Amino acid sequence: MLESLSTKVHDENRQGEAYAPLAVTTREYKKKFYIESYGCAMNFSDSEIVASILNDNGFGATGNYTEADLVLLNTCSIREKAEQTVRQRLHLFRQVKESRPGMLIGVLGCMAERLKGKLLEEERLVDMVVGPDAYRTLPGLIEEAETGQKAVNVLLSRDETYADISPVRLDSNGVTAFVSIMRGCNNMCAFCVVPFTRGRERSRDAESIVRECTELFDKGYREVTLLGQNVDSYYWMDEAADKVVTFAQLLEKVALIDPLLRVRFSTSHPKDITDEVLHTIARYENICNYIHLPVQSGSTRILQLMNRTYTREWYMAKVDRILSIIPDCGLSSDIITGFCTETEEDHQDSLSLMAYARYDMSYMFFYSERPGTLAARRYADDVPEEVKKRRLDEVVKLQNRLSLESNKRDIGKRVKVLIEGDSKKSAGDWRGRNNQNKVVVFSKEGGAYKKGDYAWVKVTDCTGATLIGSAVQGD
Ligand code: 5AD
Ligand code: SF4
Repeated sequence: MLESLSTKVHDENRQGEAYAPLAVTTREYKKKFYIESYGCAMNFSDSEIVASILNDNGFGATGNYTEADLVLLNTCSIREKAEQTVRQRLHLFRQVKESRPGMLIGVLGCMAERLKGKLLEEERLVDMVVGPDAYRTLPGLIEEAETGQKAVNVLLSRDETYADISPVRLDSNGVTAFVSIMRGCNNMCAFCVVPFTRGRERSRDAESIVRECTELFDKGYREVTLLGQNVDSYYWMDEAADKVVTFAQLLEKVALIDPLLRVRFSTSHPKDITDEVLHTIARYENICNYIHLPVQSGSTRILQLMNRTYTREWYMAKVDRILSIIPDCGLSSDIITGFCTETEEDHQDSLSLMAYARYDMSYMFFYSERPGTLAARRYADDVPEEVKKRRLDEVVKLQNRLSLESNKRDIGKRVKVLIEGDSKKSAGDWRGRNNQNKVVVFSKEGGAYKKGDYAWVKVTDCTGATLIGSAVQGD
């Protein structure tokens, strides 16, 4: 069995991390829940929906699992390593449960969907298994589990978007928030388990998205990231106006809430991002000039096997198009090394494409076969593990160089930074991001700022992960 490895360069998107929430409210609750999230931003966002449902049903959040009545793991199946980490956590929680038999343990998210009864029956690790479209049924499932029965709901839905649920912000900096705009994926990339675990693609009511973003702005948030597996295929029929809302139109609606609200989005599939979206980004100062545009591989032959539906040249032309409409656009990518049949030449194609696109940042992985996917059914996982890892290492080294070069090009520039809080290394410095999503650190001495303010910063130095500068007079 392969162990997969994900490597992050200047990762500030929390991909792959877990977190425990702080107590989110002072209201008294009868019971306490503890939740850990793994995987993509969508899972973090889902945990905030789960928290809202649980709050409404008498459960308050705790950051300490030893005092929790309900321990939940919101899980990821994208690579085998993610699943192994969750299993280790489940064994630990199982031990805690021995001294606290009333405590319930539940698995949410993609592993719940993929493994269904296996976790309940064969391994007896958990009391509840709840798939990503079944969170509304959590209160009933908890009641069932409290009577000693195993509770499970992994039904996928064609229309669930949780549009009416106001997420409870967990572990929030009070400045930036994720807003889910669609669920599921119809793309069927050959390596990917997501279409099986999260079901068919569906878009959320545009009005409810704008409402949620407006409420966030009113509470002091200054940045929203619109989330979906494939945001460019967002499609909502506004029955009242008898008009379709496209992703470009949704972006515009959110941008119009207030010029002080920054708008980001993730993830774009290169095949779907339109000129209309690019022009909308260019037109609004508060829609950030940054696109996460996963390429996965630089070899046309591998892209075809991956079912990505574009060629190397087509992707390069897309990069050119983006930069012709948004010249200072930041770009990042996801790259997989060692996909089935990948040769040294294919790998070199990935490296040269990365250099062409000059990515500011990438999420890089080696291929991990997932049961049930197109690739698992059709192709042999035939690249030896050490070759996958060596290629990944080369990809990471190149990305480190590209990130450093990209940051060096910013030295001397003035950038507008949204302050997210103290620098992780020094309380004497602010930490925020510029328009292109780069992390910027600057001294607090340069002006009277607070979290959530915008500051103009002159970049004087950098590392591969951070721009360093000092506050200057703005416009
Ligand atoms: N093996 C390795 N990486 C994968 N990803 C998705 N499935 C796999 C897999 N089976 C990566 C892709 C995707 C990102 C979220 O995870 O690069 O864009
Ligand atoms: Fe997976 Fe491809 Fe859908 Fe992304 S677009 S979730 S990689 S199937």
